Amino acid sequence: MTDPAEHPSERPYDPARTRLHVVTGKGGTGKTTVAAALALALASGGRRVLLCEVEGRQGIAQLFDVPPLPYEERKIAVAAEGGDVFALAVEPKAALLEYLELFYRMGRAGKLLERMGAVDFATTVAPGLRDVLLTGKVYEAARRRGPKGPVYDAIVLDAPPTGRVTRFLNVNEEVAGLAKVGPIRNQADSIMSLLRSPTSAVHLVSVLEEMPVQETQDAAAELRRVGLPLGCVLVNMVREPVLAAADLELAAAGRLDRGAVVAGLRAEGLGGRGQTGGVQGALLERLADGLLAEGTDHALRVELEREQRIDLTAVGRPLAELPALAGGIDLGALYDLADLLVEQGVA
Ligand SMILES: Nc1ncnc2c1ncn2[C@@H]1O[C@H](COP(=O)(O)OP(=O)(O)OP(=O)(O)O)[C@@H](O)[C@H]1O
Ligand SMILES: [Mg+2]
Repeated sequence: MTDPAEHPSERPYDPARTRLHVVTGKGGTGKTTVAAALALALASGGRRVLLCEVEGRQGIAQLFDVPPLPYEERKIAVAAEGGDVFALAVEPKAALLEYLELFYRMGRAGKLLERMGAVDFATTVAPGLRDVLLTGKVYEAARRRGPKGPVYDAIVLDAPPTGRVTRFLNVNEEVAGLAKVGPIRNQADSIMSLLRSPTSAVHLVSVLEEMPVQETQDAAAELRRVGLPLGCVLVNMVREPVLAAADLELAAAGRLDRGAVVAGLRAEGLGGRGQTGGVQGALLERLADGLLAEGTDHALRVELEREQRIDLTAVGRPLAELPALAGGIDLGALYDLADLLVEQGVA
């Protein structure tokens, strides 16, 4: 039996060695945001990084506020202390034409196939083939070499959500029924060995809520089952508690000091000077009740989040946290998130 640490999913995560970063997570947890921040983080200090998307959503272009990306690598950002982030929206049809051209030199014949609808047919009817084309393009970019070595120091893939990611990456299984031998089979084999190699890692983005955490656990189990290497668990949109630990405990039990809340409100100039009776006094009491109820809700949420964090830790991979940024995500926010990823050893 081999050492369990040698199983791709259990290998320690090493940012210095990882060149292909796959970013997945439940829908809406921040995959695209985190993938972009990771690309900036990896590029900082003068490296070249390619950020890819495969879902045909133009999420990267929207995030960086640039026109829709063509099927062509475009520089979209400069990282801290130099370093370039390029972006590519991989599209199955274009990938198939490129593939036909590359492997069969089918320049014109490929175009003819496209006119006949064969390209649409091939890329929509066989999801396995579609995925092999998409991951194949990423594979090609990862392997591409220029005169001075690899063209990209790292590649970040904004991947399909957790529910679909294992099928998407496990192209070998997917094409098994499609091609037992031949170039597609070989392509799938090469992609698989790159994905399983120590230079690849699949990061799982989650937020501290029940469903995303459950999906993270399920995805980790599935990826382990098919022998794909897990990277980090990236906890996104983390909110700091607004109450101190002792107050949280009281709030959860509904035992916050009501008198202190009323006094605090009065100190803020609410409820009138020294009065507790009358209209203003009643308003003050209602305000205090509202705040106490909010305090309890907040404390219960913090407690739930604490439990979710324990479940995410139990996945057994390095955990990094990114705050919920109140101002939303603009380019400046991406740089801030990138710094936090570097500080926490993800990049
Ligand atoms: N750390 C954060 N702080 C504040 N807002 C965030 C943060 N991360 C993501 N968001 C916001 O959350 C929303 C979802 O993020 P994003 O599009 O990156 O998620 P996604 O997982 O890629 O979604 P989809 O499944 O639709 O592709 C966006 O509006 C984004 O700006
Ligand atoms: Mg997205």
